[in-house]
Amino acid sequence: MKLALALVLLLSASALAVEIDEVTGLIKNPGWEHVRANCGGCHSLALVTQQRADRKTWLDTIRWMQATQNLWQFEPEIEAQILDYLAASYPPSPDQRRAPIPQSLLPKKESPVQ
Ligand code: HEC
Repeated sequence: MKLALALVLLLSASALAVEIDEVTGLIKNPGWEHVRANCGGCHSLALVTQQRADRKTWLDTIRWMQATQNLWQFEPEIEAQILDYLAASYPPSPDQRRAPIPQSLLPKKESPVQ
């Protein structure tokens, strides 16, 4: 009985765990094959998996590579899947960027020296 319970817990835990592709290190969320196919040619995919950003910043990164690093253009629906994947799999993490300090906690601006 105890064994059966342990087994159930073990199985449900592994179902919840993030699956990581052993070869690329990419999290196997929907769309990961597009990232495998398009994002590892110029640099290691570790550059992708180490990055944390929201969708907008991921898009900015892609636009920057397209403008300056010869990254090709994507079909809009492929690009959307890549961005969905990146934003869901590698979202901003709290230890990377803190929230802005509220205005009420900031020092008051000094009046200009006269
Ligand atoms: C055509 C070449 C090329 C391809 C393909 C490419 N990149 Fe890049 N990427 C670069 C170059 C060059 C850099 C700068 C590398 C460096 O600083 O060492 C870079 C840097 C990055 C960085 C680091 C940016 C930073 O702010 O430090 C990330 C994240 C990144 N790429 C993600 C991606 C993703 C996601 C894809 C797929 C959509 C991709 N790259 C595909 C050329 C490419």
